[in-house]
Amino acid sequence: MKGMIVKNMSFKVGQTLTIVGTPKPDSTNFAVNLGPDEKDITMHINPRFDAHGDQNTIVCNSYQGGNWCEEQREGGFPFRQGEEFKMTISFTPSEFQVTWSDGSSMNFPNRIGAEKYSVVSFDGDVRITSIEIK
Ligand code: GAL
Repeated sequence: MKGMIVKNMSFKVGQTLTIVGTPKPDSTNFAVNLGPDEKDITMHINPRFDAHGDQNTIVCNSYQGGNWCEEQREGGFPFRQGEEFKMTISFTPSEFQVTWSDGSSMNFPNRIGAEKYSVVSFDGDVRITSIEIK
C-alpha cells in the first residue's frame, strides 16, 4: 500500500530526522524510504513482521534506476505490531546511521553519496504520527 510522501524536505548531513509511528495491530510490514527524488530510494528501511518470507526482520536496500540493489538484513528487531516506535536517522556522504527505540543502531551505505535528501515516503501497514528534522 502506498502511503504518505513528503517531497520537499531539506534533510542535510549533520541533521537528524526523527520519525514516530505505530505499525497497525495486524501489520505484515511497513517501509520508510528516503531518496533524492520521487523515483529513487537511497535508504529503504523495511521492518517485516511477516512478509516476503521473512519474520521479524528489518530489510534495508536501495532502489535505483528501476531496480532494487543489494539487500542488507539487520540482526535485531525492535518493533511490535500496534506499539509506537521512534527512529532517528542521520547521515554522512558515506553512510546512514539509524537508531531504534531501544537505543540500538545500524549503519547503511549512502550509495549515491548525496549530502541532501528531499523525499521521505512511507508504505505499508503503519500510521506515522510525527516527522521532525533538527
Ligand atoms: C522486495 C520487496 C520490496 C522491497 C525489496 C527490498 O522483495 O517487494 O518491497 O522490500 O524487497 O529489497
